[in-house]
Amino acid sequence: MNQWQIDSWRDMPVVQLPEYPDKQHLQQVEQNLGKLPPLVFAGEVRELKSRLAEATRGDAFLLQGGDCAESFLEFSADNIRDTFKVLMQMAVVLTFGASCPVIKVGRMAGQFAKPRTTGTETIDGIELPIYRGDIINGTEFTAESRIPDPERMLKAYNQASSTLNLLRAFAQGGLGSLEKVHAWNLDFVANSPQTAQYSNLADRIDETLNFMKACGISSEHSRVINETNFYTSHEALLLPYEQALTRRDSLTGDWYDCSAHMLWVGDRTRQVDGAHVEYVRGIHNPIGVKAGPTMPEEDLLRLIDLINPENEAGRMNVIVRMGADQVEQNLPKLIRAVEREGKNVLWSCDPMHGNTYKASNGYKTREVSNVLKEVKQFFAVHQAEGTHAGGVHFEMTGQNVTECVGGSKPVTEAALGNRYHTHCDPRLNADQALELAFMISDTLKECRRLKDS
Ligand code: PEP
Ligand code: CO
Repeated sequence: MNQWQIDSWRDMPVVQLPEYPDKQHLQQVEQNLGKLPPLVFAGEVRELKSRLAEATRGDAFLLQGGDCAESFLEFSADNIRDTFKVLMQMAVVLTFGASCPVIKVGRMAGQFAKPRTTGTETIDGIELPIYRGDIINGTEFTAESRIPDPERMLKAYNQASSTLNLLRAFAQGGLGSLEKVHAWNLDFVANSPQTAQYSNLADRIDETLNFMKACGISSEHSRVINETNFYTSHEALLLPYEQALTRRDSLTGDWYDCSAHMLWVGDRTRQVDGAHVEYVRGIHNPIGVKAGPTMPEEDLLRLIDLINPENEAGRMNVIVRMGADQVEQNLPKLIRAVEREGKNVLWSCDPMHGNTYKASNGYKTREVSNVLKEVKQFFAVHQAEGTHAGGVHFEMTGQNVTECVGGSKPVTEAALGNRYHTHCDPRLNADQALELAFMISDTLKECRRLKDS
């Protein structure tokens, strides 16, 4: 195998990268980005890796979630706060269900570039290059807006930097406080049409917190209750941006992509001989690889060998996104291959990307019931194979959008147009995301009971 270098990906076949018309401009931006401070530092990345190693062993659970695509337009303190808040609320419910720590990782502060199925889009007979995410070009359907513009990388970096700054403040400054988050959950349960279904779990958390308080463990006295760790992640798609933020750690001499704590490779860019896999194999961050329904087990094993040759626990996260009707059929063979080879893999479930369809009115959507079904099937398969269902990966927002169909305050297909704001895939709204957390929590509890019995 060739020697990895920070730019060795440039010699490999590459898909899904934009063709920048002005190469000189691109180079200049890459150089400028290369001089800017890293967004995260290697010590934090190593800490996340060791926590993911715990999840690989079944002693922790990964909750990863956020926008499909962050956008320049939707960038606001309120949006960041609301997504953070819902993730925290979900995490508390899941922690209770799983009886183990939940590792919180946002699809935030860098999730700007999107892989696309087609290279162009045609409206009323006019064909233009496809929108590839705000870090690359604009959504507006004009020839000018669709030209890839390197300056957008600098804007994305700045937005990621402010987002991360706020997330760190929230996590350490009391917005992640267990008591506060639980109070929001009580509000949610009281206002939900499913109050009866969720209140049992909420009451038990309430009792536990009161008991802990009586023992002197409360936010006033305990950092564990008052603060949380929050990590960031995005798809390592736009390699010039990722390379520019890749830095050598002064302590270990190892390379880290300092644009986020964790990176993943998408289902469309995971070719074993491709540029994206080449790039991620040399950085020391935890790496996710998406696995769709057609992933052959030989490919998965090759990817694991390439990305994690030392079989380090916490390095490799396989994010399964097969669709509610395919997991049962296609996941067991991947798990068996990994088990047979003794590979350390953290398995998580993305129940979003295999369940997208076009509603009759043209909106791209997903049904909450299918999202739940995929998660349940994922857990059932792991149960049957004797392996750990280690995490979930959602596209969600803290806003009250109407992008996915269903939920207990149901969004109908006809209502999709009311607040359909996503720049790419449909996200769960705050209520839908929380409801799913409550339902998954029960499943987790049952798995834990069976494991311990
Ligand atoms: C995504 O996570 O937004 C995505 C495009 O996923 P996938 O690569 O699994 O299709
Ligand atoms: Co998506």
